[in-house]
Amino acid sequence: MTEHVFIVGGTSGIGLAAAAKLMRLGYKATIAGRDPARLKAARHSLGDVGAVVMDAADPIAVNAAFAGAGPIDHCVLALGSGKGAGPFRNLEMKSVRQAFEGKAFPHMVCAQAALPTLRKDGSLTFISAVSACAGFPGTAGLAAVNAAIEALIPVLAAELRPLRVNGVSPGVVDTPWWDFLPADQREATFADYAARTPVGRIGRPEDVADAIAFLIGNGFMNGETIVCDGGVRWAA
Ligand SMILES: NC(=O)c1ccc[n+]([C@@H]2O[C@H](COP(=O)([O-])OP(=O)(O)OC[C@H]3O[C@@H](n4cnc5c(N)ncnc54)[C@H](OP(=O)(O)O)[C@@H]3O)[C@@H](O)[C@H]2O)c1
Repeated sequence: MTEHVFIVGGTSGIGLAAAAKLMRLGYKATIAGRDPARLKAARHSLGDVGAVVMDAADPIAVNAAFAGAGPIDHCVLALGSGKGAGPFRNLEMKSVRQAFEGKAFPHMVCAQAALPTLRKDGSLTFISAVSACAGFPGTAGLAAVNAAIEALIPVLAAELRPLRVNGVSPGVVDTPWWDFLPADQREATFADYAARTPVGRIGRPEDVADAIAFLIGNGFMNGETIVCDGGVRWAA
């Protein structure tokens, strides 16, 4: 039978690429995001996909969205905010709080809300970030948020058995996540990271989508976070 995957943050970047990859593999997909225009554009590019407008920080909206989507076999949490970056000495706690409110808490809200309709031996995949383990200067806030998400993974894998709970931890990936930077700064940042990354380039959303599809499809992967960063954490 066709398996159903619900992707929060499926309207852009990594989540959108994951939806496209999984649909090519024969999964049925439902995507969710806040912006109706983004959702419409994603539906247009994906074709026959379920779509729901939802703010993952709002537990009532999230519960309603999961209940409305019907039974699901897999859930991917690919949402996040660009808050929390910057040198620690001057890092504003307001920005760190916004980073937790924009990523760590919504990931937990969605994970909880998915459970009633998620197949008992299906899968839940979190998207964190390599900042959680890389020691890059200027990423203390991002590291804290993403490490919080990664800390959940083994606990939930043990607690929610037989559900498989995994994560993908991307390096620098060319997506609209970086739109908070002016175009010239973004290009310079990408070029800098590409030069420092052993594979000689930054990531594409499809690189991370492949890792997500692997974790969903491999029934023996559990409690694991795969780092998908071209090796940048070893060389930056
Ligand atoms: N790109 C990178 O270099 C990189 C590196 C490491 C980790 N990551 C992580 O990968 C994940 C995906 O990022 P991306 O690069 O694909 O970014 P993106 O292109 O900006 O996509 C983010 C997606 O999340 C949705 N979203 C954000 N906040 C939401 C909320 N409160 N409720 C529902 N949907 C929400 C967005 O749609 P709406 O805005 O319409 O809600 C969009 O669909 C994030 O957690 C990010 O931190 C990215």
